[in-house]
Amino acid sequence: MTHLVVGRTLSFCDDPAIAGERASHDYEERGVVVIDDLGRIAWSGPLSELPDVYAGLPTTDFGDNIVTAGFIDAHIHFPQYRMLAAPGNDLIDWLNRFTFPEESRYGDSGHAAAAADVFLDRLIAHGTTSALVFSSVHKIAAEALFAAADARGMAIITGKTMMDRNAPDLCRDDPETGGRESQELIDTWHGRGRARYAITPRFAITSTEAQLKVSGELLKANPTCLMQTHLSEQHGEIAYVKELFPSSKDYTDVYDHYGLLGPTSLFAHGIHLTERECARLSETGSGVVHCPTSNTFLGSGLFDLGHIGDDRRPVAFGVATDVGGGTNYSMLHTLGEARKVAQLRARRLTALRGFYLATLGNARLLHMDADVGSLSVGKYADLVVLDPRATPVLAARDDISETLEDRLFALSILGDDRAIAATYVKGQRF
Ligand code: GUN
Ligand code: ZN
Repeated sequence: MTHLVVGRTLSFCDDPAIAGERASHDYEERGVVVIDDLGRIAWSGPLSELPDVYAGLPTTDFGDNIVTAGFIDAHIHFPQYRMLAAPGNDLIDWLNRFTFPEESRYGDSGHAAAAADVFLDRLIAHGTTSALVFSSVHKIAAEALFAAADARGMAIITGKTMMDRNAPDLCRDDPETGGRESQELIDTWHGRGRARYAITPRFAITSTEAQLKVSGELLKANPTCLMQTHLSEQHGEIAYVKELFPSSKDYTDVYDHYGLLGPTSLFAHGIHLTERECARLSETGSGVVHCPTSNTFLGSGLFDLGHIGDDRRPVAFGVATDVGGGTNYSMLHTLGEARKVAQLRARRLTALRGFYLATLGNARLLHMDADVGSLSVGKYADLVVLDPRATPVLAARDDISETLEDRLFALSILGDDRAIAATYVKGQRF
């Protein structure tokens, strides 16, 4: 049934770093979102201007809480959902000792199905309504995740990870199987309901040249799919890639050689990219995904948003949790950590830009902005309701907050799932 959600409404229309902070968003102290029978936004704006036709409909009034577009996590690993806080010494050690053994369990369909329910419910509890997700190497795990997302009406983009070397038998495929199973999943799931597929070679270290070639061919044959992988996360990883691909110019060139750069390609991390790599990523319209809690936890390095976004050859970027290398499911907490990483690089990440990145910015990066990312009419009512007074510490801080920007800033530094008053997926409250 058509219904109304009332509160302080916030909706971005552009990147504050480009449009300016003021022109980047609409904000109403008493705003309303009208949700239609199909779970889409029929109208949004100031409550005082609500068209008569919607007056008197069932209403949930969130008072001083902030109603905005649901968070979008641009990089997260489903089969790592319970292995946060695994004490690896560095990336490769962490993968070998903790990650690959845990991901190997997803060949069991019962385990994968139960995990998919927990994983998606956890995203929703943290205010995340969409995500670009790495599944495990097992086709059945990706199927379980797609099915669980479909049951919730969630727009999830995922793909079966491809990895055919430098990993244990139970989480390795081969180029032929990886290619065939990926195509089968695309044929079944890509565009079904809200599901979309991402071609997912894990990274250059775990894919042979033959598998990277298959990945490029898959992308060429399925140009509306996304492609996701990892790039330039740790110095040791970069040196290993150089050993494995001695004739490549650099790490980015490995992927470039196999046709894996382009506007639908997303590269997690991108911390240590050279000028040449940034120029090539920019030229091809490829995107990079900043994962601050993962980068500090695994000791990867400090992402430099000024270097990545350099006006002369800007590389598009988003933000993500990277659970379970990342240490928190909360995009609020992730924005707080992104702020701190920026400070350490002598850059500034404002609260408004952070919230833009976690909503409309990530929606644009993942080519989902026609459907999600703001409160614009026609988009799905994927919403998060934020309580700026959710904890005693937040409430005390809120007493001295005078502006939206300051409230958002406090939420990003002090907030987490406790600050999620409600999450709506396709108009339905969870
Ligand atoms: N590089 C390759 N696989 C992974 C992963 O699972 N997590 C992180 N953080 N980096 C990776
Ligand atoms: Zn990752």
